[in-house]
Amino acid sequence: MDSQRHAGRTAVVTGAGSGIGRATVIRLAQEGAHVVGCDIDEAALSVTRGELVAAGLQASLEQVDVTNQADIDRLLVAISEPVDLLANVAGIMDHFVPLSEVDDSSWERVLSVNLTGVMRLTRAVLPGMQQAGSGAIVTVASEASLRAGAAGAAYTTSKHAVIGLVKHVAYFYGPLGIRSNAVLPGAVATGIGASSVPTSEWAMERAMAALATMGSVAEPGQIASAISWLGCDEASNINGAIMTADGGWSTA
Ligand SMILES: NC(=O)c1ccc[n+]([C@@H]2O[C@H](COP(=O)([O-])OP(=O)(O)OC[C@H]3O[C@@H](n4cnc5c(N)ncnc54)[C@H](O)[C@@H]3O)[C@@H](O)[C@H]2O)c1
Repeated sequence: MDSQRHAGRTAVVTGAGSGIGRATVIRLAQEGAHVVGCDIDEAALSVTRGELVAAGLQASLEQVDVTNQADIDRLLVAISEPVDLLANVAGIMDHFVPLSEVDDSSWERVLSVNLTGVMRLTRAVLPGMQQAGSGAIVTVASEASLRAGAAGAAYTTSKHAVIGLVKHVAYFYGPLGIRSNAVLPGAVATGIGASSVPTSEWAMERAMAALATMGSVAEPGQIASAISWLGCDEASNINGAIMTADGGWSTA
């Protein structure tokens, strides 16, 4: 493995203020990329900034709501160079809420961040990648892309749907030199835990049944390494892969 495998590349990472996104910013910066990390939460970005400084690393950090097209337009203008790698990491959970209990605003928010946000960022970087004739997009999906027991109705739907988008981009843009792949984590120790706790007894019972086979909880860096690999040239023939990073949970 080339320890500077992202040298000279520009990488955009969403969800950079916490968990997997923060670990990805640090990992890609260590591996030589010019990283632009974005998050809706400015305070969370400050923590990432502190970790970068402590590690002697540099990255640009921008407050961006991935659901807001104006924010994305502003981001692309600020970057002003072609994006080589996009890591779609930002996402929110749904408290395992079953469909009959879902309210419209929660449904729309979860779909908006986990699906439409990925579409907006990916759509924004594609023209530059097409012009360059190369690019890599890595989207963080979930165990909930494969099964119904890892989350509630909105999150499960969003993470199944985003796989369709990942495959669409792989199929249409692969011949133009652009790769699109998904990483599907199982449980990871991040900030998302707060919105993962089931709010009803029934949801808790259904969650516990599925989680019984889960195995150990991963560290964010373990997912960041998968993102980094899929995004680098060592994975040059990998396009449209739906890659679990769940310690084997999906085999149960
Ligand atoms: N942690 C897990 O167990 C787990 C499992 C499977 C998949 N995932 C996925 O991993 C990804 C990262 O989640 P995490 O576990 O690191 O969670 P996290 O909560 O630690 O980090 C998510 C980050 O996304 C940011 N964010 C939320 N909405 C945003 C928006 N509209 N615009 C920009 N940023 C926004 C949050 O501020 C936060 O900093 C998500 O897509 C999540 O669905 C996580």
